[in-house]
Amino acid sequence: MDAKKRIFSGIQPSGELTLGSYMGAIKNWTALQHEYDCLFCIVDMHAITVRQNPADLRRRSVAQLAQYIACGLDPEKNIMFIQSHVPQHAELSWVLGCFTQFGELGRMTQFKDKSQKHADNITAGLFTYPVLMAADILLYQADLVPVGADQMQHVELCRDIANRFNYNFPDTFTIPEAFIPKMGARVMSLGAPENKMSKSEPDGCVFLMDKPEDIMRKFKRAVTDCETAVRYDVENKPGISNLLTIYCAATGKTIADAEAEFADQGYGIFKPAVGEAVVELLRPIQEEAGRLMKDKAYLEQVYQDGAQKAQYLANKTLRKVYKKVGFVPAK
Ligand code: TYM
Repeated sequence: MDAKKRIFSGIQPSGELTLGSYMGAIKNWTALQHEYDCLFCIVDMHAITVRQNPADLRRRSVAQLAQYIACGLDPEKNIMFIQSHVPQHAELSWVLGCFTQFGELGRMTQFKDKSQKHADNITAGLFTYPVLMAADILLYQADLVPVGADQMQHVELCRDIANRFNYNFPDTFTIPEAFIPKMGARVMSLGAPENKMSKSEPDGCVFLMDKPEDIMRKFKRAVTDCETAVRYDVENKPGISNLLTIYCAATGKTIADAEAEFADQGYGIFKPAVGEAVVELLRPIQEEAGRLMKDKAYLEQVYQDGAQKAQYLANKTLRKVYKKVGFVPAK
């Protein structure tokens, strides 16, 4: 009997992994992998909702797997795979799209933001993206979805779609819950602390594989305010509050401890100290990711094995869904 609860989460290989996705998502995954049955996905099908260079997408998808492992995710323990290797995601997405309202998708803030940014290329894929995300989660009957705060709205929509489907066809889907970290749920840009740190805005974004000197430069240049006190106050001191959050998420210290540590020191000491903490956090991850990238055969074996296990689980749900909606069984 399998009594463990299940987790599904994923990151788009639409850019290099960022400190935001590490603190908002991956760090939690590494903690939760011991208690849950987990699937960690590289959601390449999501990435093509905006134009990608094919060679870069291919390289980043494999590099992302190496970085997942380097961050401490154990491929023996978790199912780690590439979304496009499991065709059931697209198949379930079609069915769920027929249980999703046009208006619901139009209300998604990420769609509104991205369609502004890519005004010359607002595709149907960008619009229906949250349906694919719901399919990712529901295919595996996930109980928990560990994500950063920006994905909360999409998980809520997933729950609405699942509840609607279950209302029509009882006992089909587990209703998942979002799991948001206490520290690091919303890491902000170092250059514009009122905005989320995002791979699509490289300015103010720290990447997991950034060189130490680049990390230090980015933190030394981080936008703060014209006071001198290292104090947590999101409203009035968004830059310093963000740096405190990053420092605490990197070191495991509490905000109160960090405030006390830098009480008599100005930003000139504090900013490089945060940089150092991040460099130290990332150093072993970078070394391990570099080593793994030289072992392509191993990475290939991990994602092939992951896809096989994921397909087995996905197929069980998809068969159930097809039967419930009235499709004739193929055999
Ligand atoms: P994506 O690829 O934009 O981000 C991956 C994860 O990192 C979190 N995150 C952040 N957390 C804190 N601060 C930040 N600045 C920051 N930037 C990113 C995100 O919240 C996310 O958890 N739609 C999803 C990918 C996805 C998915 C799924 C997630 C597709 N299917 C199913 C969970 C379950 C996305 O675009 O995340």
